Amino acid sequence: MTKGGLHTARLVVLVLVCCTARICGEVEEQGTCSKDDGVDCGSQNLEVTPVITKLDGVEVGHVQDVILDGKTHQMKTLSMKPQVLEIQHFLTDDECDHVMRLAEKVGMFESVTNTPTKSRNVQIMDMNKDTVLSLREFILTIENSFDIYLDEGDMLKMYADLGMDHNADAEISREELYGQDPKSVAEWLEEYVTKLPHKKSRMSRQAWLYPSKVRDKVLDEIQERVVSLVGLPRILIDKNDEFQVVQYGPKGHYHAHWDSGSWAEKYPCCHHVKTGSGERCKSCRFMTVLLYLNKVDGGGATAFPIANNETFDEHSFRMSGKINLHQHCEDANLVVPAEKGKAIIWYNHHLDPTTGWVGELDSFTLHGGCGVTRGQKWIANKWILVSDEREKDMDPNYRPNRA
Ligand SMILES: *[C@@H]1O[C@H](CO)[C@@H](O)[C@H](O)[C@H]1NC(C)=O
Repeated sequence: MTKGGLHTARLVVLVLVCCTARICGEVEEQGTCSKDDGVDCGSQNLEVTPVITKLDGVEVGHVQDVILDGKTHQMKTLSMKPQVLEIQHFLTDDECDHVMRLAEKVGMFESVTNTPTKSRNVQIMDMNKDTVLSLREFILTIENSFDIYLDEGDMLKMYADLGMDHNADAEISREELYGQDPKSVAEWLEEYVTKLPHKKSRMSRQAWLYPSKVRDKVLDEIQERVVSLVGLPRILIDKNDEFQVVQYGPKGHYHAHWDSGSWAEKYPCCHHVKTGSGERCKSCRFMTVLLYLNKVDGGGATAFPIANNETFDEHSFRMSGKINLHQHCEDANLVVPAEKGKAIIWYNHHLDPTTGWVGELDSFTLHGGCGVTRGQKWIANKWILVSDEREKDMDPNYRPNRA
């Protein structure tokens, strides 16, 4: 975690090399090949199974010093379920400005989500099966099918524009629904979000910065700082070395979502397949390091709507509408305001105690970017990818075949 820690890590690699060269005894006499380095030189089996670990937040409000590049930073625990940590001034103002400029130079483009806005599969969300769609149920239907997040005012406008609600009771009966050409709803939505793009689940622009390609001293230094901080095998970071820089303009936001996929989804990790080929895959982002790059004049916090809730019930969450972080940012259980240079760190997955590797998705990491009410918001995301295949992750010759 410290600069000294980096040296130790290098030493371990050297020791491993010496051990496999079977001159361990000699090195041990020199006192460098010891169990303290995590290497058991006396063992016949020289293979060390790599494990991943998490930083320990201890308890909410706990502050611990971390020394990175010889500079002492304070890391504060904001939440334990999920564990969310915060480091103020993780980046200097100059570093923040530099990263924003780099992203602009590389070229920003509109962010998209996996869910297409032109859905062909409309799933009618008649939750209570009373054959009538309440406003809330129709809102959910549109959210799930079109990735568009409307409020009640938007819905009433749609009913009026399309003449859907014949008896004007703000509910859509089976007869009213089937009297409607489904295409007309899709077309209305398409036109509506063209005019009001913040009705989509996500409104931002972004760029990808690859330290290995950009060859930028400042970006390399930030990368090293992240490697030192997280204490994970650096090969994991080197293999997926990119930063995602995101710019949110006025009304920009990203509704509540998970950064990673559930292990229950039996798809391969997205960094192991060509996602462009249409094959389904899941994100495998063990860890998120979110870096705020600027001072936001209004809004733009990161919200964790269900942090520390006793249980998580996706259905009741969806019905509550709290996924919409334009409307419900303040209702979130944990809200982390945007501050230039600040890092927020959390783990999207549990650890699997039996394998010492990545475990199931932690549902409580559900989070999103609250609406920007004034000015701009810039962040950089650093995801540390860990798949369910430890050997491939750790194999320097195994290159993920990405989109
Ligand atoms: C929060 O926890 C309570 C108590 O377990 C539960 O009833 C409620 O459904 C939970 N909320 C969500 C959104 O899961």
